Amino acid sequence: MKYILSFETSCDDTSVAVLNTDYEVLSNVVSTQKEHLEFGGVLPELASRMHMQNIMRLTQVALDKAGLEMSQIDALAVSVNPGLIGSLIVGLAFAKSMAWSLEVPLITVNHLLSHIFANFIEHRGKIESPFLALVVSGGHTELVHFISETEFEVVGKTLDDAAGETFDKSAILMGLDFPGGPIIDKLSKGGDKSFVKLPNPLPQKDNYNFSYSGMKTAIRTYLLDKDEDFIKEHIHDIAASVQDAIIQPLIKKTLRKARELKINQVLISGGVAANSALRHKMTHAAKRQGIEVFYPSLELCTDNAAMIAAAAIPKFKAGDFAELSVNADSTKGTRYL
Ligand code: KG4
Ligand code: ZN
Repeated sequence: MKYILSFETSCDDTSVAVLNTDYEVLSNVVSTQKEHLEFGGVLPELASRMHMQNIMRLTQVALDKAGLEMSQIDALAVSVNPGLIGSLIVGLAFAKSMAWSLEVPLITVNHLLSHIFANFIEHRGKIESPFLALVVSGGHTELVHFISETEFEVVGKTLDDAAGETFDKSAILMGLDFPGGPIIDKLSKGGDKSFVKLPNPLPQKDNYNFSYSGMKTAIRTYLLDKDEDFIKEHIHDIAASVQDAIIQPLIKKTLRKARELKINQVLISGGVAANSALRHKMTHAAKRQGIEVFYPSLELCTDNAAMIAAAAIPKFKAGDFAELSVNADSTKGTRYL
């Protein structure tokens, strides 16, 4: 059996995992940096410093949990884009130095592709190409058509804000904490989603892009003349309205594109794929159209290193390794590299 040790440091989660090349997770440790909470968003410089503090200790914990010595690792995998450049560099520099000292290959991975590959950890035997993947994270909203596991094309994306960003910004406007997605998800339970009328962006039939900036403005405008007591009293209804407005375009456009491409498998992934309404409503709507929906378990939706190793497995098998001179970059989008 071959083992991959992987690192994820693209934003505010430091994570290290060990997977074998059958996609079995031996360990997946994640440390979410709570230091950003008081700032209502992620401070890039602080994130890099926290990654530096965390990464060595987490690597030891991941190896111990997997019951492996460093010398038993066959390859290292690391996310190199997109993300906060300083944070990516911490993971990459660490992975490079380990690859050099252990004399094992280094595999570089695109963070968004790895979100999609998180699905292979739990559903590998069931997923067959071609399939359509929706990646919804803090900074990205993309619809990706996979012809095979290694050949794919981005067929739709957000023209402005990402779905996760819209959850987070709406939450701040509602006086809630960061990140707002999970909070709005919880508050929405039992709320009336038709309480606030919000715009349905880019509804055109032949358009597979998304746009959330108008929605964000509509939420801000709606809340402008509402006092704190009103917001508190109706927080469940407002949360449910915001959540529904964000997820409906994702469901409609993904399923319409799947029908157009005659694809009967859809993979959802990224932090927003943890949203309970998105998981439930997408599955329900897809079922009526004969389309099967896959999503990772909650801990594999948000940033973690197990998904980085999962995306590295096809590259490991193909011998597609990176030079130690490779650089990190913050270029947006799903890419093979
Ligand atoms: O993929 P991710 O962990 O990090 C990035 O690569 O950006 O995604 C983080 C995003 C945040 O915007 C967060 O609010 C959102 O995922 N998120 C959720 C939920 N859990 C996390 N959004 C809606 N509902 C959730 N349950
Ligand atoms: Zn992510």
